[in-house]
Amino acid sequence: MPTLGVNIDHIATIRQARQTVEPDPIAAAVLAELGGADGITMHLREDRRHIQERDVRLLRQIVRTHLNLEMAATEEMLAIALDIKPDYVTLVPERREEVTTEGGLDVSSNIARLKDVVDRLQSNGIPVSLFIDPELYQVMAAANLKAQFVEFHTGRYAEATNEATRQKELEVLAKGAKQAIAAGLRVNAGHGLTYWNVYPVACIEGMEELNIGHTIVSRAALVGMERAVREMKQAIRGNG
Ligand code: PXP
Repeated sequence: MPTLGVNIDHIATIRQARQTVEPDPIAAAVLAELGGADGITMHLREDRRHIQERDVRLLRQIVRTHLNLEMAATEEMLAIALDIKPDYVTLVPERREEVTTEGGLDVSSNIARLKDVVDRLQSNGIPVSLFIDPELYQVMAAANLKAQFVEFHTGRYAEATNEATRQKELEVLAKGAKQAIAAGLRVNAGHGLTYWNVYPVACIEGMEELNIGHTIVSRAALVGMERAVREMKQAIRGNG
């Protein structure tokens, strides 16, 4: 069964909504590890809408499992990654207007630029994963770049509105995994996975790690609500 990388971006989203200090993604990462997370994942975006550089630097010191830094293939991010040295970097596409990462990286159309970034990360000892749609031409392009991993974008599977489409998208992921492994790549997946749709993806042969964020942070907010309210009632009574 694959390992679980917990994406803590949306803990930082809540903090940034008030530009305050809580909830702290560092505390969330420690608790995620206590809960059994096999890795901690975060996306440092150019616009810093959630995770901040301070978070990545502190997490580098605190994370006991492994740290996966998602980032765009820009000079700014490359400099940060080379300085912080995460356990691996996942290169993702980034558009300012998007709510979340909307599609996979177009590796096949950006070979030259990506080759430079992949080479500089790898020559500094940082393995690279490329977040791509599960398409053969993208898999082959990732293999040509000698990336260690691909992460398949599971959005089309997650957003399927009927069982037949979901099944078809699952097959696309399974076939992509087979092709990627045959091309010498290791395979991760993520995006839009939930408590309800994760199991079939986890069963895909060769799948190594699932990176999951939104559904875990959503559930954490709800399963923690009762206790949080009880504790505020106590605080109001002076027993905080
Ligand atoms: N993997 C990558 C590359 C992502 O960009 C994201 C979203 O930030 C995820 C996994 C996690 O997606 P979700 O929050 O939908 O679980």
